[in-house]
Amino acid sequence: MESPSCSRLSIIIIIFTLSLLATSSWYITTKPGTLSCSESNFLCSSIPRKAKLSSLIIETPIPKPKNLAISNPLHPLDPLAVQEINRVRSILSSYGPFSSTFPSIHSLSLDEPEKSQVLRWKNGDPFPTRKALVIGMLNGEVHVVLVDLELGQVTDHEVKQPGLEGYPMITMEDVSLALQILLTSSEEFNKSISARGLDLQNVNCLTPSPGWFGSDEEGHRVIKIECFYTEGTPNFYMRPIEGLVITIDIENLKVSKFTDTGRGIPVPKAENTDYRFGSQNPPPKMQPINPISIEQPKGPSFRIEDEHFVTWANWKFHLKPDQRAGMVISQAMVQDSETGEFRSVMYKGFASELFVPYMDFSEGWYFKSYMDAGEYGLGAMALTLVPLNDCPRNSYFMDGVFVSADGKPLIRPDMICVFESYAGDVAWRHSEFPVNTFEIRESRPKINLVARMAASVGNYDYIIDWEFQMDGLIRVKVSLSGMLMVEGTQYENINQVSPDAQISHPLVSENVIGVIHDHFITFHLDMDVDGSNNSFVNVNLVKERSFPGQSPRKSILKAKRNVAKTEEDARLKLKLYDPSEFHFINPSKRSRLGNPSGYKVVPGANAASLLDLDDPPQLRAAFTNNQIWVTPYNRSEQWAGGLLVYQSNGEDTLAVWSNRNRPIENKDIVLWYTLGFHHIPCQEDFPVMPTVVSSFDLKPVNFFERNPILGFRPNLEQDLPLCWASNTN
Ligand SMILES: *[C@@H]1O[C@H](CO)[C@@H](O)[C@H](O)[C@H]1NC(C)=O
Ligand SMILES: *[C@@H]1O[C@H](CO)[C@@H](O)[C@H](O)[C@H]1NC(C)=O
Ligand SMILES: *[C@@H]1O[C@H](CO)[C@@H](O)[C@H](O)[C@H]1NC(C)=O
Repeated sequence: MESPSCSRLSIIIIIFTLSLLATSSWYITTKPGTLSCSESNFLCSSIPRKAKLSSLIIETPIPKPKNLAISNPLHPLDPLAVQEINRVRSILSSYGPFSSTFPSIHSLSLDEPEKSQVLRWKNGDPFPTRKALVIGMLNGEVHVVLVDLELGQVTDHEVKQPGLEGYPMITMEDVSLALQILLTSSEEFNKSISARGLDLQNVNCLTPSPGWFGSDEEGHRVIKIECFYTEGTPNFYMRPIEGLVITIDIENLKVSKFTDTGRGIPVPKAENTDYRFGSQNPPPKMQPINPISIEQPKGPSFRIEDEHFVTWANWKFHLKPDQRAGMVISQAMVQDSETGEFRSVMYKGFASELFVPYMDFSEGWYFKSYMDAGEYGLGAMALTLVPLNDCPRNSYFMDGVFVSADGKPLIRPDMICVFESYAGDVAWRHSEFPVNTFEIRESRPKINLVARMAASVGNYDYIIDWEFQMDGLIRVKVSLSGMLMVEGTQYENINQVSPDAQISHPLVSENVIGVIHDHFITFHLDMDVDGSNNSFVNVNLVKERSFPGQSPRKSILKAKRNVAKTEEDARLKLKLYDPSEFHFINPSKRSRLGNPSGYKVVPGANAASLLDLDDPPQLRAAFTNNQIWVTPYNRSEQWAGGLLVYQSNGEDTLAVWSNRNRPIENKDIVLWYTLGFHHIPCQEDFPVMPTVVSSFDLKPVNFFERNPILGFRPNLEQDLPLCWASNTN
């Protein structure tokens, strides 16, 4: 997790800044939209194999909007367009308090209209007023400013008490400045690098967030710096310069703490750390596999309307990139299989915070307890996706329109992809042996629609998928990859470690320890099942014993339904031996049979935070104290770790809000679900980790009158022409 961007000292800082500038220009790409059958070295056929090659050249364009960057918003939830961002910037620069010095912009995004306004809005209606929420910093103070784009004015301005409530996401400019301060003012740093026999030219530094550990650092925004050796590898993460940690006071522009404890620890070698395809020599000992892709001879079945509105099969939803959350799904609606009516499932869903504590007490490591969404921004850290590998061929790519520290628009091209996925799975099936009946074999392929992004927060990569299924299920999936955050050690083999000096963290390569850590991703899920007023029901499975003589059976399970009255009833930890289903129901919308319409959250593999509740990182990340929370809808409660997370002290978290114990029965309520991973590294995680995946589902329960995909058509041979490589070249 870790820290964002790194810059090779001096020169690279400039190159890095230039490359950021380069990305702020418009960007239009034409996506490959042509079926590969049209390529001359492929032959195609369908069954019966009569079709001529030419008749199979099918154009399947997935139209990319003309130019996202300059287009106008078309929906009240659309992100701020480039010209709107420019307008906010000009309003701010003529605003009294900022007219002499423009603040550094840490966040500038749409202040979404009231939910009731959005729900009332119909295509063609005038828009609710467009507003921007801006978080800026000026002279060490945090300014939260609301800009009304219609009035052309600042309509609200709050100055936060320095240090008491935390700070906004750091910017690339903060990172460059911290590195510059280190280089120009710390002779100790230069001395330490030379004393270790290293060349400053090959030193690359990261800026991990400092966490918060009491009053010492309050009132000063600080940035930690740790460094790596780049010589001989692009994977400098595997070459830590151990024990060298510098704390920079970014407001007073000075080094506030210098820790140099690891001089005796060698920098691990560069050999075998490069993960790029071109550098693998010899190739892995396995049979290569032939290229693989899904075929869509008639093109994809989804459409993107008005740039952000996705429609596919029985689903429609609004999809947008977000600098902090990465990707936001809004107004997800599924079509009723009987009436064709679109019914509301979820008003808004997104990754609200990502907490990553490392398990090491030492001076160089104790502070590593990242909150990636609020400290760095999952969207800000998301780069362009890799076609054909991150996303399959028939993907649609969406740009992020973000804002840099000077308040200017910043385009992140192709950072979200949307595609249909078919993994060869079955949506439903049954076969019947021809005994006393005729043989039946009915089966349907399972095809899903996926919206995907990948955030590279320093060393770690988080792939976040929202997968929409035709049976009404939404799967939220997180895959972890990238590099371990490793620690240098003098050991090269575990036989050098004496039994009483056991190292708990595994050795993953010579002189490299993979430090044990956790990842927790907390999702904000504003469920609106058939409307806003919902109740949360804990459907608890309880054992019932038979009374003597009742049955040969001694025990069975029964479902006991407990409707949560207040927030306290909905703070839940997962339990294997006291299991429950967790339903969101609309008590006033009933099925034909009288069951309330509902969706349930279905946990997948999960892990809980085991840190002490009074451990500073856990106080700040108290939203991970439970896997499930339900709160009444409140438009100010979006970010589980608080609005200002950097150096926050835990006074504005989901746990604090939930303690108000507000009523939640038959109200507009929000589900918070945390997906967790414990990670004990191993050698296979070196030098780059194969993906580790977990997910949870939002699944209809008595929402449809019956299986909603009975009428879904099976695949037939003639639907799918065959293509194969010809021998002609
Ligand atoms: C450290 O070394 C670099 C590169 O030689 C130099 O530019 C910088 O001024 C030095 N810093 C200090 C504080 O001496
Ligand atoms: C939801 O419930 C509130 C009372 O808690 C009521 O005022 C409101 O009209 C209800 N909304 C809908 C859409 O039924
Ligand atoms: C909404 O949330 C904010 C921030 O937590 C809080 O100050 C306010 O009291 C909340 N409003 C209600 C009605 O709970």
